[in-house]
Amino acid sequence: MRGRRPLFVGNWKMFKTPEDTRAYVDAFRIMAAELVAQADIALAAPFVDLDALRVALEGSTIGIGAQDCFWEAEGAFTGEVSAPMLSALGVQYCIVGHSERREFFGETDETVSLKISALLGGNITPIVCVGETHAEHHAGTSFARVEQQLHGALGSLSDAERAAVVVAYEPVWAIGTGLACDAESADTIMNFIRRSAGGLDEARIIYGGSMKPANATALCAQPNIDGGLVGSASLDPAEFLSLISCGLQVLDAR
Ligand code: 13P
Repeated sequence: MRGRRPLFVGNWKMFKTPEDTRAYVDAFRIMAAELVAQADIALAAPFVDLDALRVALEGSTIGIGAQDCFWEAEGAFTGEVSAPMLSALGVQYCIVGHSERREFFGETDETVSLKISALLGGNITPIVCVGETHAEHHAGTSFARVEQQLHGALGSLSDAERAAVVVAYEPVWAIGTGLACDAESADTIMNFIRRSAGGLDEARIIYGGSMKPANATALCAQPNIDGGLVGSASLDPAEFLSLISCGLQVLDAR
């Protein structure tokens, strides 16, 4: 029997206003009522939606997630948001090192590591994204790339701290393309991730990249896949819940 509780996080990326957030949660909360007994479920929203999420989710166990943070607690850093600020809003999870932040906003393994420490200090669970690009995938360097990202992000942590982190394996070529990684290949690299640093036996490792209701069962049946980080299929509450149900059919039985 596996000890790791399934986890599904919707990454809304740069979609939805506070008004959209309230409408989403109204529908999602009711439909998710049974699923929250079997899995941790969270919604990672743009900063401007977090307070609307907090209010709309009051009394629910559905978690609140952010999509990034800065590593300093406060200061003259125009445009940034810190871990203590997120904590004050009831944020429980924060994505760090997403490939879109690495590609478009200069995120590096070093800044990811600083953000993870700040989040752990604020009792927020970091969801650390790793994954190879299309070119790396075809060059056969996926394992080396992921190992480098993990070492940079988690190398300075203790085993206990690593056990508190969630790792998301998101092959960049699978994100938003409709072409998910096949389940066995994803499991092979996620098994490698689990063995590559102390403490990750206990940590949750989730898959991201075109996860849909149609492939969630096959992906979640794999021994090293503990759930999903879901982009486009999380934007519609019914589709996201259907995906979670499909995953839980096998995660529950494992
Ligand atoms: P898609 O599910 O849209 O491929 O996005 C995945 C992702 O980037 C989640 O963080």
